[in-house]
Amino acid sequence: MVVIAYFRAVAMACAAFIGSLAMAGPLNAETLGGVALAQKNNCLSCHNVDRKVVGPGLIDIAKRYGNSAESVDYLARSIMEGSQGKWGPVPMPRQVQVSPRDANALASWILSLQDEAQLDP
Ligand code: HEC
Repeated sequence: MVVIAYFRAVAMACAAFIGSLAMAGPLNAETLGGVALAQKNNCLSCHNVDRKVVGPGLIDIAKRYGNSAESVDYLARSIMEGSQGKWGPVPMPRQVQVSPRDANALASWILSLQDEAQLDP
């Protein structure tokens, strides 16, 4: 009986989690694609979406630069060439594993996150 109760609790927790994903709205396939790309390129070892880790929170980056074609170009270059002195004393090494195409996709994804921030209390 205890075991059944345990599994039921786990199932309910999963359902609640999936429900919260659905309610987040903008967490659509495109957003999840960005997360996968960031994971694949090891960005999330230093960055978190909504808070500072080693590097600034991605939503903070989106808020600072605003979502425009120029910002996408600029951030794609920052990602590939590295960045220094913009956010604090710790520099970001150049991310040599990232192709120009992926850098562009990552930059657009990061800049899209400012919309999500408004829904997040
Ligand atoms: C070793 C840790 C580390 C890794 C790995 C890392 N970053 Fe960073 N990132 C930083 C730090 C630290 C900064 C702040 C640099 C500064 O102050 O200019 C930063 C800044 C940035 C910025 C803002 C640049 C600017 O011009 O303001 C972007 C965008 C960014 N990172 C994206 C990424 C992406 C995408 C990846 C994965 C491909 C990644 N980072 C991987 C540590 C890291």
